[in-house]
Amino acid sequence: MYRSHNCGELRASHSNTEVTLAGWVQGVRDKGFMIYVDLRDRYGITQLYFDEERTPKAIMDKASKLGREFVIQVKGNVIERASKNPNIPTGDVEVVVSELTILNSSLVPPFTIEDKTDGGDDLRMKYRYIDIRRNPVKNSLIFRAKVAQEVRNYLSNDGFIEVETPYLIKSTPEGARDFVVPSRMNEGQFYALPQSPQTFKQLLMVGGMDKYFQIVKCFRDEDLRADRQPEFTQIDCEMAFVEQEDILNVFEGLTRHLLKEVNGVEVDKFPRMLYDDAMRLYGNDKPDIRFGMEFGELNEVTQHKDFGVFNSAELVVGIAVPGGNAFTRKEIDNLIKWVKRPQVGAMGMIYSRCNDDGTFKSSVDKFYDQNDLAKWAEITGAKPGDLVCVLSGETNKVRAQLSALRMELAERLGLRDPKTFAPLWVIDFPLLELDEETGHYHAMHHPFTSPKPGQLELLDTNPGEVKANAYDLVLNGNEIGGGSIRIHDKATQAIMLKHLGFSEDEARAQFGFLMDAFEYGAPPHGGLAFGLDRLVAILGGQETIRDFIAFPKNNSGRDVMIDAPAPIDKEQLDELNLKLNLKP
Ligand code: AMO
Repeated sequence: MYRSHNCGELRASHSNTEVTLAGWVQGVRDKGFMIYVDLRDRYGITQLYFDEERTPKAIMDKASKLGREFVIQVKGNVIERASKNPNIPTGDVEVVVSELTILNSSLVPPFTIEDKTDGGDDLRMKYRYIDIRRNPVKNSLIFRAKVAQEVRNYLSNDGFIEVETPYLIKSTPEGARDFVVPSRMNEGQFYALPQSPQTFKQLLMVGGMDKYFQIVKCFRDEDLRADRQPEFTQIDCEMAFVEQEDILNVFEGLTRHLLKEVNGVEVDKFPRMLYDDAMRLYGNDKPDIRFGMEFGELNEVTQHKDFGVFNSAELVVGIAVPGGNAFTRKEIDNLIKWVKRPQVGAMGMIYSRCNDDGTFKSSVDKFYDQNDLAKWAEITGAKPGDLVCVLSGETNKVRAQLSALRMELAERLGLRDPKTFAPLWVIDFPLLELDEETGHYHAMHHPFTSPKPGQLELLDTNPGEVKANAYDLVLNGNEIGGGSIRIHDKATQAIMLKHLGFSEDEARAQFGFLMDAFEYGAPPHGGLAFGLDRLVAILGGQETIRDFIAFPKNNSGRDVMIDAPAPIDKEQLDELNLKLNLKP
């Protein structure tokens, strides 16, 4: 038996009990005639005590040689401490050690195993197994397991069946590049790793599974950000015989359950916002609605004067910054510099101070009088003491720029409280999105998403106007899930693929299996997928998903611990018989 108790378990009530503990040496305080060792495991820290009077000399000697992160086993007696430590649950007791076994020694760890470690990111990732011993990482992984468990409980109780789908498949277009795997047995041919199990879950509906879910790895070769990893996990779901309303209700229920069980937070019915409104009011399809600062469109009250910058703009739009009149001139100049950074890309920023006495002072007083500025304040909802910030330009660009400014200001003003949860459904997404570079349309969600009833005909005349039965779940400004009602008949799917630029042959080669399935009694169906890593991070009060993933990749898609990706042996390469075997 390695241990009778764990290191987080012992209390004063255990006094005078003989115990066996095992764990890692967190630290040693050697005072010569007495030695204290903090012993740590997943459950906590227990203080061990060795003293000249009670501990045999051989054990005293051994204890004095212990180093940080040695793995040891001890036997001893629990006693109440003379001076208690109220900061840890085991702080009332210590174990007077009678036997000590060193199970393994350790090199000096490359960083401290403390909540605030001295290890930089690179070092922590290289020695991730040591990093996982630290509370913040360990607790994040435990938190993730709890969320996943709650998801399984909830969906299983609601009649969902967990089905595994294959990883070695053919390209599933979700808008990223595929990771491909060469096949040894099928010379010159490749599998693609799934960007999502999308087509398989639809086939499960054709197969009559009715309600499916899976907590599943997805693979996307795309540029990485704080909320993106090349392999990540989805809570993937699909249901047959449902409309959008059914899906929104089920997954609102799941999200509410998680907020309650995991965070102890009760939330009201989730608001719903049209995609068009989200873009107009927040410049963004995943608005953070924990705070206001909604956009006010100012064309009508700015384009009647001689100010060329505004007159030539497609959109003039502003926000009211609460309390922003307190900003100094220098702070405002810095904001202007901030919006002009290439990452944001605005040409400049006009502002109007809303003074406490009801007057205004703007950076364009030459062009606009007090009446004009009063209208700016009214439309943006600015009150005395606020600052109106105005950007102008091409509609899409200026919305994105003002959205970035809104988020930055909210961050600076402390309006993005991670303990407040503001979920939101964004619905009625466009079916197609224009790729500015190529001039082609591609599916905004994916090619299997159905257009709103009666809108199919619009595809020929006004493709950009067609709305889809597609929805996203947004939590605190992050897209945590998305889905749609699917096309379930071959003819509509063929029209859709044609509009996405697939020839008939290409459509057949890539999606023939799905179109065939649609001819054997495919039920109406729809679903959605949550990003588990993102969901867990946000419920855990953070926006970076890395620490909720045991072994994440760095920003170049590398695992620096195992050093992957890496070259392979010539023999291994030869076996694959990789020849350039391009599609005709
Ligand atoms: P979508 O592509 O919107 O939909 O993905 C669903 C959710 O997965 C998360 N996500 C990611 N998380 C971490 N790293 C990434 N690289 C990453 N990419 C996406 C997001 C996103 O909302 N098959 C459809 C779902 C459906 O239609 O049912 C799909 O995959 O939180």
